[in-house]
Amino acid sequence: MSRFDEPIDRRDSDSIKWGKYAGRDVLPLWVADMDFAAPPAVIEALHRRIDHGVFGYGHPWPSLTESVLAHLESEYSWKIQPEWIVWLPGLVTGLNVACRAVAGEVLTATPIYPPFLSAPRLSERPLKRIELALTDGRWGWDLAALEQATTSHAELFLLCHPHNPVGRCWRREELSALADYAERHDLIVCSDEIHCGLILDEDKRHIPFASLSPEAAKRTITLMAPSKTFNIPGLGCAFAVISDPTLRRRFHRAMDGIVPHVNVLGLAACEVAYRDSADWHGELLDYLRSNRDRVTAAVHGQKGAKMAPVEATYLAWIDVRELGLDKPAAHFEAHGLGLSDGTDFGAPGWLRLNFGCPRSTLDQALERFRTAVAAA
Ligand SMILES: Cc1ncc(COP(=O)(O)O)c(C=O)c1O
Repeated sequence: MSRFDEPIDRRDSDSIKWGKYAGRDVLPLWVADMDFAAPPAVIEALHRRIDHGVFGYGHPWPSLTESVLAHLESEYSWKIQPEWIVWLPGLVTGLNVACRAVAGEVLTATPIYPPFLSAPRLSERPLKRIELALTDGRWGWDLAALEQATTSHAELFLLCHPHNPVGRCWRREELSALADYAERHDLIVCSDEIHCGLILDEDKRHIPFASLSPEAAKRTITLMAPSKTFNIPGLGCAFAVISDPTLRRRFHRAMDGIVPHVNVLGLAACEVAYRDSADWHGELLDYLRSNRDRVTAAVHGQKGAKMAPVEATYLAWIDVRELGLDKPAAHFEAHGLGLSDGTDFGAPGWLRLNFGCPRSTLDQALERFRTAVAAA
């Protein structure tokens, strides 16, 4: 019995994930949060902070910064300086601020987490997008397409690392090729590393893009948070790491007057999530690995459904184009399964399944998945 086996009823809570299907028998495996309680150390720290009773504006304190620095060094051998950190209420904020900090074109590759596509539009910056390549059942970069899409107006490259939704943990050679590309075109790289604590393959490690070389660091805005790994996204606490002072100033200027202080509960949770929750994190990765294997087996067992290996994240990216459905997400909803619609990620005919849930929920969802495929 794992602590993650215990179902927690979120039906009548504030959950966006569960609220979407209120009153309907639809299992929500869409939005990217997990149906698990946060680590005990986080819950205790929040209780202590609540008991203080005063909730004025807060700023980060030394032991919090120390916790972030120690975590990045021990997990990723990445040494950063305290002044490189820019606290943010969320990564989507960071993506939008990064777009507003540049004047030129923004580049990214689909399929991709939808705010990568909306942030340039909302910031009124032109977006150039290419497609990731799916070669022999494995996702990768089409560098030739990337080169071709890059004009002299290009200024910012949005990278998702590890990648939502395709689940790749980009390898050093792949990252180095992207760093060379950014160098050649003098691009700023905004590397969204929110899923970096969720590497499922035991033979792989997350390599922060900015840790590749001093040249890569100079042009990189890294976005990180404890939110996905420790399941606290509702606490709104994230940060950018920007080592270059000029780039950091540009980022700060784009935030001015728009981005609020980070809430004090998020900051309190962040410190202990990174410092005191390693056992919980290890158990979580074991649990997610076996959930991933169950999803993979279920999808591979179905004619008309395919997926590539999920190396990282708790998200499976499933190709159901062969089923020939007009509206795949609606079809699966009609069979009691709420998945994310690939169209929002720039890939109609695909679905994203969030397996960050107790096994009993997942098994029921996979049964519904099989029924829905059979009925297509
Ligand atoms: C790649 C990626 N970036 C950002 C976010 C959301 O970040 P935040 O809630 O901090 O805005 C998500 C959530 O699913 C994500 O997958």
